[in-house]
Amino acid sequence: MAAGRPVHALVYDTSEAARYGALVRAPRGRVVVHVASTPAQAAAHVAEADVIYAWKFPPELYAKAARLRWLHGMGAGVEWALVPTLPSRVVVTRAPGVFGPWMAEYVLGWCLWVTQRMAAYQDAQRRRAWIQHVPPERLAGKTLAIVGLGDIGRVVARAARALDMRVVGVTRSGRAVSGVDRVYPSRELRRALAGADFVVVILPLSEHTRGLIGERELAAMRPTAWLLNIGRGSVVDEGALLRALERRTIAGAVLDVFATEPLPPDHPLWAADNVVITPHISGPSTPEGLAPVFNDNLARFLSGRPLRYVVDRKRGY
Ligand code: OXD
Repeated sequence: MAAGRPVHALVYDTSEAARYGALVRAPRGRVVVHVASTPAQAAAHVAEADVIYAWKFPPELYAKAARLRWLHGMGAGVEWALVPTLPSRVVVTRAPGVFGPWMAEYVLGWCLWVTQRMAAYQDAQRRRAWIQHVPPERLAGKTLAIVGLGDIGRVVARAARALDMRVVGVTRSGRAVSGVDRVYPSRELRRALAGADFVVVILPLSEHTRGLIGERELAAMRPTAWLLNIGRGSVVDEGALLRALERRTIAGAVLDVFATEPLPPDHPLWAADNVVITPHISGPSTPEGLAPVFNDNLARFLSGRPLRYVVDRKRGY
């Protein structure tokens, strides 16, 4: 950066860019904030940007980002940023700590939806039917397998333990994690799945995780078990999942993420009667939620201190 030149931060989001931009704590004279909500607006400023704070920044614009040194993602996952066009000198950071509490409520809410038979009682109410022969079950004592024990997975684990669930996890190393009853290394993924009543997938998308939950993994699950996917759609093989759901080799699935989003109207998952579809809302990004992490890192950037929450671009998270 030439002496005296302020840092240029480009804030890009197609729906709430203005609000994200307004919450950037930019010391006067030291930071110029540009706000863009369309690729054309982003294109107008990308050449002068030292910093990009964005959700799904248009990848074709990285080639013009000659000054760019730091990109901060407005979300849990950053695979959209880790593309070959992003110059290797650019440090990518993400926002841990923001999404776990939301996602824990999502996961436990839907587990309780299953055990408390919420759909059945509501359906019976519509029919004015008294279905005392359909009892709820206790969630306590059931096993939740968390595939991916990053910062979000650990918050989910804590919340599940608070409801007396047994919690197992799957990580690359299989090293013990506090608050988790048992951690399996990823080579034992199917063993972990076989013992679970609920399986929640919270993995980032990378070359190692794409299609990880496929035919064999689904076959390892119990016919009474539910799969929840809140990480990335392509981590689960949707074709294999549809077959497992149709054949009832698993009880059902709660899906917040899909290989293609929005899920196309003619996608067969919409029609499956043992699937709940939510529109990628399990861990919402909000300008207020994300501003503290970005602003803390911006202060570090301005004073030349190392950034926090740096993504390992090879691992993908
Ligand atoms: C995500 C998010 O990364 O919604 O999926 O934050």
